[in-house]
Amino acid sequence: MKLFIDTANLAAIREVSGWGIIEGVTTNPSLIALEGRGLVEVINEITKWIHGPISAEVKEDVAEAMVEEAFTYARMHPDIVIKVPMTLEGIKTTKILSKHHIKTNVTLVFSVAQAMMAAKAGATYVSPFMGRLDDATNTQDAGYRLLEDIRYAFDMYDIETQIIAASIRHPMHAEQAMLAGADVATIPYQVLCDMLEHPLTKKGLAIFREAQEKNTSK
Ligand code: G3P
Repeated sequence: MKLFIDTANLAAIREVSGWGIIEGVTTNPSLIALEGRGLVEVINEITKWIHGPISAEVKEDVAEAMVEEAFTYARMHPDIVIKVPMTLEGIKTTKILSKHHIKTNVTLVFSVAQAMMAAKAGATYVSPFMGRLDDATNTQDAGYRLLEDIRYAFDMYDIETQIIAASIRHPMHAEQAMLAGADVATIPYQVLCDMLEHPLTKKGLAIFREAQEKNTSK
């Protein structure tokens, strides 16, 4: 499974680029707005730090305008993936972009039906939103079950569209994505940091270091 970072924050992207395990970036209009800069400017900078799929989401809502906007972003860099909302206009856009061999990430997916329709349109990726589904259903596993069901359906029909587990709120969501067989998990910076940690690791290392100290002092 690939790990992407879900942010438009350049400082976080610069830091994780040095970890050697982050293979892509996803952004969305909310994440771009947090940076107070334009999408083109932010995406251009991201391409300097992460050499892998970088999702840039269209602002338009009608297919013709989405396609035009998508071509603008796609021309920026070969790593750019066009993020398109799971709407009828988004499906039409995905179909057109796939014919032009432009990679797409259909986002705001909350059902197997939506994921399947996006795949039929030729989506490179679909992004089921785990956290928002859990929030809406007041559960801790609705997102997990959705991932499992999409994985089952895609495998049943030998569908190549890749599943990006998105809207990840904590390490448990990332682990659910791993267990469900997602192709990618796109993870906020702080959750990536939390995934590195475990209290027993910290405790065990302290014990090892204490033993070393005692040993060298003999
Ligand atoms: O960027 C797509 C998705 O990961 C956003 O998730 O629910 O935290 O805004 P959310």
